[in-house]
Amino acid sequence: MNIRGKVIVLEGVDGAGKTTQLEYLRSYLSLPEQRERFGETVFVHEPGGNEVGEKLREIILTYTMDAKTEILLFFASRNELLQKVVLPLLNEGKNVIYDRFELSTFAYQVYGRQREDLRDFVLSLSQEIVPEHFVDYVFFLDLDVEIAKERDQLRDAKSTRFDLEGVDFFNRVREGYKRELLRYPHAIIDASRTRGEIRDELIQGVKRVLEG
Ligand code: TYD
Repeated sequence: MNIRGKVIVLEGVDGAGKTTQLEYLRSYLSLPEQRERFGETVFVHEPGGNEVGEKLREIILTYTMDAKTEILLFFASRNELLQKVVLPLLNEGKNVIYDRFELSTFAYQVYGRQREDLRDFVLSLSQEIVPEHFVDYVFFLDLDVEIAKERDQLRDAKSTRFDLEGVDFFNRVREGYKRELLRYPHAIIDASRTRGEIRDELIQGVKRVLEG
């Protein structure tokens, strides 16, 4: 398959500010001069993305389940989005920005849940499902977990069972991200600064990737 568009992933613990920053990016990249320069960029969100993905999302975010079942469902949703939505877009030359991708599974299901024994399981699913060198760049919004938790609680969005996890869980998630990030071209963005500062750094970074 001939992938022509670029794939960028935004990651971070719940409350790091991904949603706000994605809104800024969306507005910026939809400006006529930016569209002319970079072509069309489509934003997708994991888990979810099409009807099957949304049903899987509902199950994943509602029920407590066996660790392997949870991982398989995240990858089921990932595969569905990839095959049905993302690969066709990339083949048309469009760029795709993911709100979470497989790094979330490493960070949450392996490190957050203290199931390092399942890392190879996740890695093998990744190798089966995700094309080689699929991700062009990952931006990780890094923020102290206590602050992220406070911010997350101020959001209007409905809490999922993941939001209810404690500070220790999210500290493990954060450290897990940092460990696994090294396998991808990436930048760590200090998300303790103002929204505007984070936005400027992210936009500059995204433009560099889209130009490359
Ligand atoms: P969501 O409401 O979409 O949160 P956010 O806006 O922060 O992405 O809920 C998704 C939750 O699922 C979030 O807490 C992270 C978690 N998650 C995993 O545990 N593993 C994964 O592979 C993915 C994609 C998400």
